[in-house]
Amino acid sequence: MRIINPVTSSIARETSLNAYLRYILALPGTKAMCREGGCGSCIVTVRARRQTSNVVETFSVNSCMVLVFSCHGWKITTIEGLGNRRDGYCDIQKRVVAFNATQCGYCTPGWVMHLNSLKDKNLTMAELERSMGSNTCRCTGFRPILDTFKSYAVDASPQFCQRVKDIEELNLCCKSKVDHESKSSSKCIDSDCRNIDNVSKVRAEDTIAIDFGKCKFFKVFDVDEIFEAWYNNGVDSYMLIDGNTAKGIYETFEYPKVLIDISDVKSLKTYYFDQNLILGANISLEDCIKIFVDTSISNSDSFGYLAEFASHFELVAHIPIRKIASLAGNLMTKHAIRQFQSDVFVLFEAVGATITVRHVNGIENTLTMIEFLEYDMKGVLIMKIELPPLSSSHKFRSYKIMPRNENALAIVNAAFMMELKHDTVTNVSIVYGNISEEFVHAKKTETFLKGTNIFNNSKLQAAIKILNEEIEPQDEPPKASPECRKKLAIGLFYKFILNISPSWCTSSCVLSGGAIIDRPISSGTQDFQIDKSLFPLNQPVPKYEGIIQSSGEAQYANDIPPMPNEVFGAFVLSTIHSGRVDKIDTAEVLELEGVVAVYTPKDIPGKNSFIFPGIQLQKEDEEILASSDIKFYGQPVAIVVAESEELAARIAKKVKVTYKDVSTAVPVLTIDQAKRDSKRYKVSDVSIKPKGKGLNVKHVIKGVYEIPAQYHYYMEPISCVVVPVEKGLEVYDSTQWIDLTQNAIARSLCINESQVLVKLRRIGGGFGGKISRNAQAATACALVAKKLDRPCRFILPLQTNLTIAGARCPCLCDYEVGVDSNGKIQYLNATIVEDYGCSLNDDILEYTVGGFSNCYNIDYFSLKTASVLTDSSSKTFMRAPGTFEGMASIEHIMEHIAYALGKDPTEVRLANMRTEDNDLPKLIEVLKKEANYGNRVSSIKHFNETNRWKKKSIKISVMSFPVIYYGNYSAMVTIYRGDGTVTVTTGGIEMGQGANTKAAQVCAYELGIPLKYISILPHYSFTAANNVFSGSSIVSECVCYSIIQACKTLKERLEPIKMKLEKPTWEELIAKAGEEQVDLTAFYMMTDKEKDLDSYSAFAVAMLEVELDVLTGRYEILRVDILEDVGLSANPNIDVGQVEGAFVQGLGYFTCEKIVYDKHTGKLLTNRSLNYHVPLALDIPVDFRVKLRYNSKNPKGVLGSKAVGEMATTTAHIITHALRECIYESRKESGCDPTEWINIDVPYDTESILKALDVKLEEMVLTH
Ligand SMILES: Cc1cc2nc3c(=O)[nH]c(=O)nc-3n(C[C@H](O)[C@H](O)[C@H](O)COP(=O)(O)OP(=O)(O)OC[C@H]3O[C@@H](n4cnc5c(N)ncnc54)[C@H](O)[C@@H]3O)c2cc1C
Ligand code: FES
Ligand code: FES
Repeated sequence: MRIINPVTSSIARETSLNAYLRYILALPGTKAMCREGGCGSCIVTVRARRQTSNVVETFSVNSCMVLVFSCHGWKITTIEGLGNRRDGYCDIQKRVVAFNATQCGYCTPGWVMHLNSLKDKNLTMAELERSMGSNTCRCTGFRPILDTFKSYAVDASPQFCQRVKDIEELNLCCKSKVDHESKSSSKCIDSDCRNIDNVSKVRAEDTIAIDFGKCKFFKVFDVDEIFEAWYNNGVDSYMLIDGNTAKGIYETFEYPKVLIDISDVKSLKTYYFDQNLILGANISLEDCIKIFVDTSISNSDSFGYLAEFASHFELVAHIPIRKIASLAGNLMTKHAIRQFQSDVFVLFEAVGATITVRHVNGIENTLTMIEFLEYDMKGVLIMKIELPPLSSSHKFRSYKIMPRNENALAIVNAAFMMELKHDTVTNVSIVYGNISEEFVHAKKTETFLKGTNIFNNSKLQAAIKILNEEIEPQDEPPKASPECRKKLAIGLFYKFILNISPSWCTSSCVLSGGAIIDRPISSGTQDFQIDKSLFPLNQPVPKYEGIIQSSGEAQYANDIPPMPNEVFGAFVLSTIHSGRVDKIDTAEVLELEGVVAVYTPKDIPGKNSFIFPGIQLQKEDEEILASSDIKFYGQPVAIVVAESEELAARIAKKVKVTYKDVSTAVPVLTIDQAKRDSKRYKVSDVSIKPKGKGLNVKHVIKGVYEIPAQYHYYMEPISCVVVPVEKGLEVYDSTQWIDLTQNAIARSLCINESQVLVKLRRIGGGFGGKISRNAQAATACALVAKKLDRPCRFILPLQTNLTIAGARCPCLCDYEVGVDSNGKIQYLNATIVEDYGCSLNDDILEYTVGGFSNCYNIDYFSLKTASVLTDSSSKTFMRAPGTFEGMASIEHIMEHIAYALGKDPTEVRLANMRTEDNDLPKLIEVLKKEANYGNRVSSIKHFNETNRWKKKSIKISVMSFPVIYYGNYSAMVTIYRGDGTVTVTTGGIEMGQGANTKAAQVCAYELGIPLKYISILPHYSFTAANNVFSGSSIVSECVCYSIIQACKTLKERLEPIKMKLEKPTWEELIAKAGEEQVDLTAFYMMTDKEKDLDSYSAFAVAMLEVELDVLTGRYEILRVDILEDVGLSANPNIDVGQVEGAFVQGLGYFTCEKIVYDKHTGKLLTNRSLNYHVPLALDIPVDFRVKLRYNSKNPKGVLGSKAVGEMATTTAHIITHALRECIYESRKESGCDPTEWINIDVPYDTESILKALDVKLEEMVLTH
């Protein structure tokens, strides 16, 4: 090995490209959230030579996955390099704004960079839509982002083409003629990579070695050099780095001593044919797709099956991961973690692929896939993988059932290969993933099938019986239950047989069971009225900060540039759910290089609490670090301070903590468990008391409705930066409540509140989760900054964030309802219990009661409420807290009544509605007509009658959301005498809801000046002192109210000057006012006692159609129509976005977002992007139509508008009603009692749906 550049490095070997960009190059545009390849917020564009094709290509990578030392030879463009305020913005950035594709904007740079990598590839709308699984957006509901992407398609619809033309008219700074190549290369992280040709000429024989003292990094270009590195450094502690993505699979990952980057070893990246297809071991999964597609076409006789491989590979991870993730890396992950549901392994094993490996001693062996699993791979290199040809008598199909439609590991994956001669099976391979560590083949079923004609009912039934006996899935929470995985495995086998069955041997009604539901390209419409006479009010102007969000210039808390001497904090989490800390061994970690300090509760000089009891909805202290009783598994017990974010997070997991008084009891994690303990059960006096009781009781219906927790899953993690300044602290916090942060820091550090200056521009999503929960990190961060007198950053890693920072309260509703024969309620006795987790803070029961009332006449309602304490993190506000649970509960009851009576649920709802303050009957009529409800009901009926294994349903949901003004929001408006421009700063935090945009519009409207005169400043604790938290959807309205009042004051002060001048221009007026020393700054703080503001109801109706695949429990939401009354919208573009985003977030809650704890330890198991599944772009309704009610003006609100942020989430329970109906349609045919109402677990995920369907194995036949 000829090593050039044997260098040492001052940069840690583990430094990710992301950390390098953000903390060393000070380029904060590239964000980070999950740090495990799952969310896409960190995507950058790479241009590099692909070894497989030998072509220089542009592609996306997740910068959190890639080590900076692996970027050799790459030209990297970050969001800063695409367009910016200095050089102008690029086309993508402008389209993002024009399509209204941002809300909080934290995810936006990742989307822009991903699109940047795709836009010149001549992709179709369908291809672009399928390319979006890499990125998560928690705010928008994806529709506007989908539109932005599709506007770049070669077959973009005329509608998109027109929108693109309109963009030219957008008043956004155009890109100057700065040479794009040279500009982006200035962001290039390798001084050699200015010119891509130089990159590609890196001499292949030059191994690069970097010595870090205790560990090493090699970059090799040749297989022999890998062995040489092993020979020289031993094989006890090494890792071959190709994509470096496998670390995203491991819960905890540590790099070994020697890293050998093999991503440019050409011989491992190429492929060729003998009679087999021979794939170099390290060909990337994405390059494989192209090879598979090409080969399946060019060599369809022998390799036609590779078309199935290609489609299946498209379901593995997502493009940026697949682009760098290798076959060998995937198989080695399977080798290391036997439970890992590798798709590559399942497919390769089903067709009898073989693996060739080479030892350090040069010996080569060829192994079957199964032999490989058992093979000792220490110091062994996978060289190649051979895929055999299969004749046309082989039928190959593969399936992957995921918790959502893309970017998720399989619940069960399967590949079936069957060789047939005159319908008799001559050879068969049935391979499943995710059954158990050992299980690969359904061997007994395979044996049975050989020599059998499977295309008849009795043989098929016999095979299914054997399969049922031999599949025994392992219980591995948080994975789906063994029962669910077994059902899926069998359902998939039956689906395969249906799919390959000759048409003559199957009944028509079972045929559709052979296909998975096809998802067409999605579309959406947004329908609203505008009144130009009111502009800029009611004008659908682009979002105020849209362009800086799409350019990465929008600043979030952790985007403050790196500071000299700064440190990073991370929480050490408890590993017990109940007990006390005995000892924290700090000595060991303090010796580690880069570790600065470890702090425990005794280091906190003031009150060890991040809550300020007494201020709104805060009842009791909560400890920053547990000093006495630990209340849940994962509660912070100490703080590690280190010189890098990665190091702090890694070391925090290593701190040794011993405990005493550890409880041996299992943790109390459910409402049911907690209710049994009077110390945990707190009855509330918040209730609905009945005014009477009806006498016409014809039916009595009883039930229990339970809905679980939901994470906020905001894209910006909880982050805080604290900088010691002069006599105090400057705090940049990701908070919805400046006041709490300021209070809590002052109290915990025993300093004056006036010494704590909190400042923030915006947060990257909050949804209620950054009202109080962020204060824990903020106080911890301030503690470190104060102790060390150094700037400190505290960014919660996803696992910590999900473990400690709360969620929506789980809720249990017991009900008994007596109704007349029309379903009209004669009495309703219900109790709702909300699970508050480990503290009583963030009390929401008032809201629950409001939601439960919904649009109904509550004269005969009796609702009691209570809360319980459980051994889990304190639950908190989450979009429409309480209202959401209350409304979902009453709507469940309405569905139950309708089912019990065999009535149309909409009729039952109408029969129970209140007459006053209720526009819903009108809105229902409008929507039914516009959405062609009647015809669709008939065609669904026909569909269900003619399809056994697919079922459809259409449902309507209604919402009357009680909006109550609560708290105080201030605004300060300043006009500058030089040019008449204006700044506004408010106490209403911008978190994606568009508060700043509406504030600017209202200010311009009130002052009668162009919108461009208005600038919105950050939120400061001194201008928005003592404000309430930003929440409850009323923020925009409230800050607008304060702005209106402030503008009124200004106008009054200007009036005398105006009188003196003759029709002055605005500039003349202001110049004169300046001259006369008029105070051009006005301040107003709106309170909930304003006389002209009153509570009101916000209405919405939603209609949803769904199709369910009975054999897999998967479904597609075919169409959703939402008609929402937002009053006179200040900005209809923003309000449509709020409706779409809120609805999709609600859909996630009811379908794919599931929280699982270890029942024995209380450890949160779903704490990663890999196992907590929020909806992605392919999960939203295929046809998504939103209409804002026409001719609506709210007399009680601000300038005629209504609140909009939370509302549409509370209609999303409609998906459960629609799926329930599909389930009942199927159960009827399974012979279940059609009158039986069943409890179905929320979320309605595959597990819950399959359980409820209760399909009998005997039903799986070809002919009825
Ligand atoms: C977000 C995300 C989603 C994912 N989803 C899926 C999914 O749906 N289905 C699925 O199957 N997988 C999935 N994966 C796993 C992914 O396919 C693997 O991470 C990837 O294939 C690993 O390849 P790599 O090149 O990055 O390996 P690396 O991380 O670079 O290496 C992994 C291991 O392989 C070893 N290795 C690499 N090459 C060789 C070789 N030639 N010989 C011997 N050892 C070698 C290394 O020493 C190392 O131990 C996902 C991963 C992520 C991060
Ligand atoms: S931070 Fe990189 S994918 Fe989430
Ligand atoms: S705009 Fe996408 S996460 Fe907020």
